[in-house]
Amino acid sequence: MADEPLILGIETSCDETGVGVVRGHTLLADALASSVDEHARFGGVVPEVASRAHLEAIVPTMRRALDDAGVTLADIDAIAVTAGPGLAGALLVGVAAAKGYALAAEKPVYGVNHLAAHVAVDTLEHGPLPEPAIALLVSGGHSSLLLVDDLATGVTPLGATIDDAAGEAFDKVARLLGLPFPGGPPIDREARAGSPDAITFPRGLTAPKDLAAHRFDFSFSGLKTAVARWVEAKQRAGEPVPVPDVAASFQEAVCDVLTGKAIAACRDRGVDTLVLGGGVAANSRLRALAEERAAKQGIRVRVPRPKLCTDNGAMVAALGSHLVAAGVAPSRLDLPADSAMPLTIVSV
Ligand code: KG4
Ligand code: ZN
Repeated sequence: MADEPLILGIETSCDETGVGVVRGHTLLADALASSVDEHARFGGVVPEVASRAHLEAIVPTMRRALDDAGVTLADIDAIAVTAGPGLAGALLVGVAAAKGYALAAEKPVYGVNHLAAHVAVDTLEHGPLPEPAIALLVSGGHSSLLLVDDLATGVTPLGATIDDAAGEAFDKVARLLGLPFPGGPPIDREARAGSPDAITFPRGLTAPKDLAAHRFDFSFSGLKTAVARWVEAKQRAGEPVPVPDVAASFQEAVCDVLTGKAIAACRDRGVDTLVLGGGVAANSRLRALAEERAAKQGIRVRVPRPKLCTDNGAMVAALGSHLVAAGVAPSRLDLPADSAMPLTIVSV
C-alpha cells in the first residue's frame, strides 16, 4: 500500500555492505557489496579490511538500492541503520553514513540491533510475526535462543553459545577440511554426498548434568575439537579423509542440537511459532530438520529465503519499518555505534 512507510536500511556490521528499501512488509530493493573475497585468504573477517571496503562501497550501494527501488532519498520516510553489535570500525561507517543522509535529507534515523533485524527480515516474506515467538539466531558471530514478546520494544534471551558461534564452527571445520571461507555453504554442499550417521560427533550441552545449568545454551568448541582429532587420526594413519561424510556428520551434530533446543524452548514457553535467522539459517539441513521436528509438535517454522538469512540491508529496513509502524521514537542524531550492543535493546 502506498501509504505504508518507505524505509531505507543500512547494514555494515561485518563484511557485507547492505542497503535495502522496504515499504511496509514489501521488499523493494536489497543492494549488497561484499568484501568476503578480501578476507578469504585470512580464513576470517579482518576488521580493518572490512571497514575500508564499507567506506568504498557505501555510496555506490546506496545509489543502487534507491535506483532498484525506483525512489529518491526525498521519498524515504525514515532511515534505519545497524548500530550494533558488530565490528566497531565497520559499524561506524554505516552509522556515519546514515547520519549524513538523515541530516542532509531531514529524515528521522533509527539505530537498530543487528540481531533483532535478523528476526524482523522474515516479515518481508511471511508478513507480521505472531508474538510471542521463539527465535533461533545463528550466525558467524552469534548463536542465541530468544523469546520475542514484542519485537519493537524488547526480546528476552533464553540461551546463547558459551564458546564458538554455530557459523564459526562451520568456518573452522571447513578450514580443516580444506574447504573455502566462509565454510557454511561448502559444508552444506559436501554434506549432500555424505552420510550424517557415518561418524558420531558430540552434541554439546545435551547431557542431563549440562542441561540443568545450560538448558538453552550451546557449545560448539568440543565438537570442533572432536572433528579435528578425527581428521588428524585419519591423516596419521595415511588414509584419505572422507570429506562428505565428515561434513554431513558434523552438520548433523550442529543441526540436531540447534533444532532440539529450539523446539524444547517453544514447548517450555508454550509458543507455537519458531523463527530462524542469521547466516546459518541458510543451511539446508537445519531448515529441513527444524520443519520435520516442529511439525511433529504442531509448531510452525518461519524461515526467510537463504539470501535474506545472511547479512543484508533489507533486514535493517524491515526492522525500521516495524519500529515506525509501532510508533517507536527515532534515535538522536548523535546515536553511537555499539559493538557490544545487548540483545535486549532493539533500537537506541
Ligand atoms: O549472518 P551472517 O551473514 O553474518 C554474521 O552476522 O555473522 O552469518 C555468516 C555465517 C558464516 O559463519 C557462514 O559460514 C554461515 O553464516 N553460513 C552457513 C551457510 N551459509 C552461511 N552455515 C551453514 N550452512 C550454510 N548454508
Ligand atoms: Zn548477521
